[in-house]
Amino acid sequence: MANTLLIYGSLTGNTEGVAYSVQTILREKGKEIDVKNAIDADLTDLTGNYSNFIFACSTWDDGLPQSDFNDFIERIISAKPSLAGKKIAILGLGDSNYVHFCGATTVIEKAFITDLSGNKIIETLHIDGYPEMEENKNHIKTWTEKLADLIN
Ligand SMILES: Cc1cc2nc3c(=O)[nH]c(=O)nc-3n(C[C@H](O)[C@H](O)[C@H](O)COP(=O)(O)O)c2cc1C
Repeated sequence: MANTLLIYGSLTGNTEGVAYSVQTILREKGKEIDVKNAIDADLTDLTGNYSNFIFACSTWDDGLPQSDFNDFIERIISAKPSLAGKKIAILGLGDSNYVHFCGATTVIEKAFITDLSGNKIIETLHIDGYPEMEENKNHIKTWTEKLADLIN
């Protein structure tokens, strides 16, 4: 069984594509990882056997997480589980032409790290513009390979 669950929120598919790229890179590093759309994610995903979580989300609506992910956060926050001891990594997609560039990652960090005591193990990755851009592909690969060394 996988130790790591990646939960993503994506409206036009950019973050979804990155989610599966991260899965591919981690698998190449020998890590088992499940991927789930935030629309299907629930409290039991966080309180079950996974040790590591990757939260991946784009920003919309003046700095908010994509709506399915936003709803997921609200479901979790109302249940108030403790994530103490769970390793957490956050990545965001956005566009630096907007005032609240990758604002979703700030909301996610407050919810899962500050309020629910998750253990943030790596600096948050911000992807500016299309993930297919060579520069962004390199950022994703470098970040994910570093993450692979930090999880079991
Ligand atoms: C109407 C609209 C609003 C957006 N608002 C923001 C924003 O506030 N901050 C940001 O960083 N990016 C913003 N973006 C950029 C998206 O986050 C970016 O296109 C992202 O790659 C979409 O990923 P997704 O397809 O996974 O949802 C916005 C894009 C659109 C079209």
